[in-house]
Amino acid sequence: MGTALITGASSGLGREFARQIAWRGHDVVLVARDRERLEALADELELTYRVRAEVLPADLSLSDDLARVCERLTSVDDPVGLLVNNAGYTVHGRFLRTEIRDQRSLEAVMVGAVMELSHAGARAMLVRGRGAILNVSSVASLTTAGTYSAHKAWVRTFTEGLAAELDGKGVTATALCPGFVHTEFHKRANIDETRIPEIAWLDVRYVVRAALEDVNKGRVISTPSFRYKVVSAVLRILPRRVIRGIQHR
Ligand SMILES: NC(=O)c1ccc[n+]([C@@H]2O[C@H](COP(=O)([O-])OP(=O)(O)OC[C@H]3O[C@@H](n4cnc5c(N)ncnc54)[C@H](OP(=O)(O)O)[C@@H]3O)[C@@H](O)[C@H]2O)c1
Repeated sequence: MGTALITGASSGLGREFARQIAWRGHDVVLVARDRERLEALADELELTYRVRAEVLPADLSLSDDLARVCERLTSVDDPVGLLVNNAGYTVHGRFLRTEIRDQRSLEAVMVGAVMELSHAGARAMLVRGRGAILNVSSVASLTTAGTYSAHKAWVRTFTEGLAAELDGKGVTATALCPGFVHTEFHKRANIDETRIPEIAWLDVRYVVRAALEDVNKGRVISTPSFRYKVVSAVLRILPRRVIRGIQHR
């Protein structure tokens, strides 16, 4: 695997990816906006797992910051073997009640950054003939929950196309499609977590472990847990008008 670059490493799934990858003995590059949290995590990983943890603070909605992360991804002297495009959030509420500038920033992080980092990362990996890209989508990619679902559907479809393009060249692409996971995601978006039944929640450590196993196997779609495999299968066969109806209610 070599060095892994993880976006959104300051909390939730990204922080857990950093921990589990470091536990496996790999160096990590930690990307997010919150420098203090990244530095605290880097100290923890270096002390606990004796790996090198590099901090690369960046706001992925800003093109200059994104360019710095692309530059790090294409380093020849210190190559990145695994790119985890994980950073993400949602702008909660009905689309027409949200501000369009907030939607544009969201799109930049959820779509633009994933596209540019995958482009830079995959090209560099192809030169070496090995590497892996893990893009975090969601089971929401199969639903109609506003721009969040649309962005995650984009990530899923994009990753499938990328995987086909990379097939047989030593580089893989995987889309992770988890259900609900306890992280800071819902609090940041002012979503009331108590309205979501306990059975719907997945443990962050389990999701990350399953995702990394699927990356090792070169799987294109990773859907952790039997529960969510069933949910995804049902969502794929339900008529779209039924899904729209459920979402509307
Ligand atoms: N939690 C769930 O139920 C769930 C389910 C399916 C998919 N997902 C997806 O999983 C991914 C990780 O989310 P999470 O659940 O771990 O949420 P989280 O705990 O809120 O973590 C989100 C991460 O994204 C980073 N981030 C947000 N905006 C950024 C920006 N403009 N530039 C750089 N980094 C940014 C945050 O760091 P800073 O604030 O420090 O920048 C943070 O590290 C997201 O793509 C999310 O859509 C989550």
